Amino acid sequence: MSEKRVALVTGSSSGIGAAVAARLAAAGLRVVVNSARSVEAGREVAASLPDAHYVQADISAQDQARRLVAEVVEHYGRLDVLVNNAGTTRRIPHADLEAAGPEVWREILDVNVIGTWQTTVAAAPHLAASGQGVVVNISSIAGSRPAGSSIPYAVSKAAIEHMTRLLAASLGPAVRVNAVAPGLIETPWTATFTDIAEAVRKSTPMRRVGLPGDVADAVLNLVDATYSTGDVVRVDGGAHLL
Ligand SMILES: NC(=O)c1ccc[n+]([C@@H]2O[C@H](COP(=O)([O-])OP(=O)(O)OC[C@H]3O[C@@H](n4cnc5c(N)ncnc54)[C@H](OP(=O)(O)O)[C@@H]3O)[C@@H](O)[C@H]2O)c1
Repeated sequence: MSEKRVALVTGSSSGIGAAVAARLAAAGLRVVVNSARSVEAGREVAASLPDAHYVQADISAQDQARRLVAEVVEHYGRLDVLVNNAGTTRRIPHADLEAAGPEVWREILDVNVIGTWQTTVAAAPHLAASGQGVVVNISSIAGSRPAGSSIPYAVSKAAIEHMTRLLAASLGPAVRVNAVAPGLIETPWTATFTDIAEAVRKSTPMRRVGLPGDVADAVLNLVDATYSTGDVVRVDGGAHLL
């Protein structure tokens, strides 16, 4: 078994996931980079890190989530840290109820909630065997406020936050489970969110949009926070104070 801790970061071919992968690698962990579609970008992220491996898998499919975790353990012999970052959304005004039809709900919940769940279930025995197993789920401030790109997305993040508390209670003391709830972060996903970015620059205490590295810092803090579990840490530049 490798001596170094091993982290799996789902959805790490770009944005927050790529920054988390880089931060964990810089902290000395071996990292598995993952994405569903952007295979070349994922391979490039892995190649840019000192000791990383790329695995393509769509976490919304149970067999692929299981294969992803199996490939991590096959490649590195252990799994200590799981960062459930992969997520999806649709941008739908909250008042347009008809536009958020069942297919939109299913698509978002399949990735954000069920994907997070089945990746965690597959990883749980390995995390427990690690002796220092940690899960960090990437939520959003939309999970606790009437905000976010759509109502199904916001509800999916609320579900992730409660899943975090429930799993912390079930998996302790062997595995700690926490979440990070970012505000607006500059990534490919939010490149067109110029109206929200303007509002954030104008009125939040930090007067700037967040960077992927801001979220990666919080993830690393939770990985190292040996007595914290069931917690949700906001990384929103103080947006929740408004
Ligand atoms: N940016 C923000 O302002 C913000 C704020 C709060 C929370 N978040 C959360 O942060 C996370 C990352 O967002 P981001 O802004 O960094 O977006 P991003 O740059 O678009 O990255 C999303 C990543 O998830 C992957 N992905 C999507 N569906 C997947 C699936 N089914 N299986 C495996 N990988 C999948 C994408 O790769 P493929 O497309 O190739 O699959 C990509 O690597 C999401 O959970 C999002 O909800 C973002």
